[in-house]
Amino acid sequence: MKKKLVSAVLASVMAASLLAGCGSAAGTAKTGASAETASSEETADTADTEESGEEAAEETAAPAGGQTVGIAMPTKSLERWNRDGSYLQEQFESKGYKVELTYSDNKIDQQVKDIEGLIADNVNILVVAAIDGESLSQVLALAKEANIPVISYDRLIMNTDAISYYVSFDNYTVGKLQGEFVRDQLDLDNAAGPFNIEFTAGDPADNNAGFFFNGAYDVLKPYIDDGKLVVPSGQTSFNQVATAQWDTAKAMSRFQNILGSYYSDGTQLDVALCSNDSTALGVTQAIGSDYAGSNSVIITGQDGDEANLANIVDGKQTMTVYKAVANEAVATLDLAVAILNGETPDAGLIASAGWDFECAYDTASYDNGTGIIPSYLLVPTVVTGDNMDAELVDTGYYTKDDQGYLHPVG
Ligand code: BGC
Repeated sequence: MKKKLVSAVLASVMAASLLAGCGSAAGTAKTGASAETASSEETADTADTEESGEEAAEETAAPAGGQTVGIAMPTKSLERWNRDGSYLQEQFESKGYKVELTYSDNKIDQQVKDIEGLIADNVNILVVAAIDGESLSQVLALAKEANIPVISYDRLIMNTDAISYYVSFDNYTVGKLQGEFVRDQLDLDNAAGPFNIEFTAGDPADNNAGFFFNGAYDVLKPYIDDGKLVVPSGQTSFNQVATAQWDTAKAMSRFQNILGSYYSDGTQLDVALCSNDSTALGVTQAIGSDYAGSNSVIITGQDGDEANLANIVDGKQTMTVYKAVANEAVATLDLAVAILNGETPDAGLIASAGWDFECAYDTASYDNGTGIIPSYLLVPTVVTGDNMDAELVDTGYYTKDDQGYLHPVG
């Protein structure tokens, strides 16, 4: 795997101005210490629109010619989207674009209204991370009518021909890494077993959630089939283990029920396979309060949320799959610039952009119901207590405090 240039930049420059060093279509460094990653207190969504960018436009050569990017994020209540919004805003502003950024409080109607507002404001391009991938067809038809290109960000938007590209991480691989981690931790190919496992997946309205679950389940299914892994609850289908809105409290209460029903007799739980960190947080809380056993349960996650990294430091969560959303923002910027320049980007964008992170151009995996959506897929990384410093701190994404806990830079 390529070494992230961002780490070299940070090492040699300064910790405060991260997110830099990624080659871009326009060829200048994308830096900025101004990323405003919302603090944990700032999680209440206001569904407001933050307009900014004028200062940045004045400071740069303004190659963007006064163009505006409309960015629709799902919610501030799930930590990562705060980082995405900040990184995207910073990237576009550093190239002289104006940015309108909306958060929709995980409310589908609100996101439709927010996108209507961005269209009414004549944004030149839309970057949308959908709350419900199935609910944006109508509003995005308006974008298409207005000739506003749409990039589907992180989550594939379904049943609309208004989107031209998808930028995400390889979602199936996220789950696969979780499954392989469990397989290796338990040494399933050699150990006698049996081991007990329970699954917690994400929001059925999020197209990613099935990819994550299937990626993990496909690795573990052979061991379930031969009895080395046992699922005492019997809940092995995506719909049985899904968590509406990826909600921590919902994941917790479902898991409390599982523990109460299937483990209160002293049955040992070995693994809680959770698709992401918000659900892992709820499951960890349930295990903390309602699990009678004294073994340490293997718990997986995804994202590198602050509370989950603290749990990894404290030995309460075992791993997370980290996705460098700073790089996802860089890929989105360069794709958007190419689209706005009238190009039809393809695999060549990856070479011409000169990114220092891995990315695949995929024209097979993501069909949104209207056909395959060409996708730029970045590569996720397993993070544990052992490589946390190397992957997250040395690369400049997080700082480490005196107690050994990590905090996102921003
Ligand atoms: C993202 C994950 C995130 C989840 C909940 C998914 O679409 O890909 O990174 O954990 O949403 O926010």
